[in-house]
Amino acid sequence: MRLVPFVAALPLASGQLHKWATKAGLEYYGSATDTPGFREREPYAAAYATYDAIFANNDEFGQTTPTNGQKWMFVEPEPGVFNFTEGDIVADLARKQGKLLRCHALIWHSQLAPWVEATKWTPEELKAIMKRHIFGVASYYKGRCHHWDVVNEALDEDGTYRKSVFFNVLGEEYLKLAFQWAAEADPGAKLYYNDYGIERPASVKTAGAKRLVKMILDAGLRVDGIGMQGHLHADNHATMADHMNTMQQYVDLGVHEVAFTELDVRIKTPGVNETKLAWQADSYAAVAEACVRVKQCVGITIWDFYDPFSWIPHVFPDNHAAGLWFEDFTKHPAYDAIINVFKRFDNRKEIAVVPEKPVDDCKEGKGKDAKGKGKKRSLRSARTTGKSYCIEQNWGQPPTRGTTKTTSAAFTTTSTGNGIQTPSPT
Ligand SMILES: *[C@@H]1O[C@H](CO)[C@@H](O)[C@H](O)[C@H]1NC(C)=O
Ligand SMILES: *[C@@H]1O[C@H](CO)[C@@H](O)[C@H](O)[C@H]1NC(C)=O
Repeated sequence: MRLVPFVAALPLASGQLHKWATKAGLEYYGSATDTPGFREREPYAAAYATYDAIFANNDEFGQTTPTNGQKWMFVEPEPGVFNFTEGDIVADLARKQGKLLRCHALIWHSQLAPWVEATKWTPEELKAIMKRHIFGVASYYKGRCHHWDVVNEALDEDGTYRKSVFFNVLGEEYLKLAFQWAAEADPGAKLYYNDYGIERPASVKTAGAKRLVKMILDAGLRVDGIGMQGHLHADNHATMADHMNTMQQYVDLGVHEVAFTELDVRIKTPGVNETKLAWQADSYAAVAEACVRVKQCVGITIWDFYDPFSWIPHVFPDNHAAGLWFEDFTKHPAYDAIINVFKRFDNRKEIAVVPEKPVDDCKEGKGKDAKGKGKKRSLRSARTTGKSYCIEQNWGQPPTRGTTKTTSAAFTTTSTGNGIQTPSPT
């Protein structure tokens, strides 16, 4: 007879971002990812297995966005010649893993196929090119894109329209046409306007985004959401109130949703230290809490989670460590800061989270509370269950009983600041 060895079930790596985000009321917490080989600007294949395992865990990331593969230069490299090899890599991964897919991006001035800008088009020609592109790509992915970033970064730094080939030839009409055709090509996808620097309530770009989206809505067209990319700076970041104010301004325009679509929080070089990581944690937490508190904020996507695969140090060499996992795959303090925000909410409602103290902390004796009133405390065992609990009694009042979980586990308390543990409401 063969002995079958007993194999202990190892705990799975515990992913938490999406799990706690959805419990708090969001649709998703996700991460962008790229084609292997494109993920980084230098060879880093040794990190792939660990990276892939973290990404694959849907409790960590329930949504993804292809960083590059669906951009024009990949999907229509030659006029009318579509190639979805790159775009399919992340889209197929999302389907296989059961992640929501944000599709990105149909009309953008950057990472365009060179031929689009190489010719001087008449308005009719460029309209035909845009229409073919939008129908070609959005029809191909029809039914698979939870969101489409229909137009990306149409605003300049001063909030006016960016002078892209599309604007130069067609004026603001190109924005309306893009949303119209995207709606026709994939009626089921939520259609987003997506931009950076539109997270603060009083910025000129926020004002520009509002004007732009209002213009499209006023034309009777559908814009479902505004995507705040959220490429933020640890040492100068918007507060939770700022984010909430901005999102409310967008919701007031009549869009049904907002989302943080490309979140990362860069840290200035050289090095990282506790202070910089604390600023970064505050920034990530402010985004998380603002999103929970504004019910139209459907989710948060980080622009890759692993520092070496982030675009930040490559494009902004004075900055780095913008993600949530360091190079050695330990987590930034921001990770726990985000989880702790989500744990405080249940379906958008704030719940009391009470720090748990071991039963040992229930030191018996008498004491005085902050008002100088006497208190008496004793540890008891429940006869029927054997559970321990802490009794606290104010003089002249009936005793209050603390809650317990298991025999050895916690008595739930809040500290009164004078060493006496007060039973807390549960
Ligand atoms: C399509 O794109 C892939 C990936 O970039 C490339 O390897 C392939 O050669 C392309 N196909 C054609 C027909 O150009
Ligand atoms: C970390 O670096 C920042 C910026 O240089 C500095 O202000 C801060 O004092 C440093 N913190 C620690 C704990 O060294």
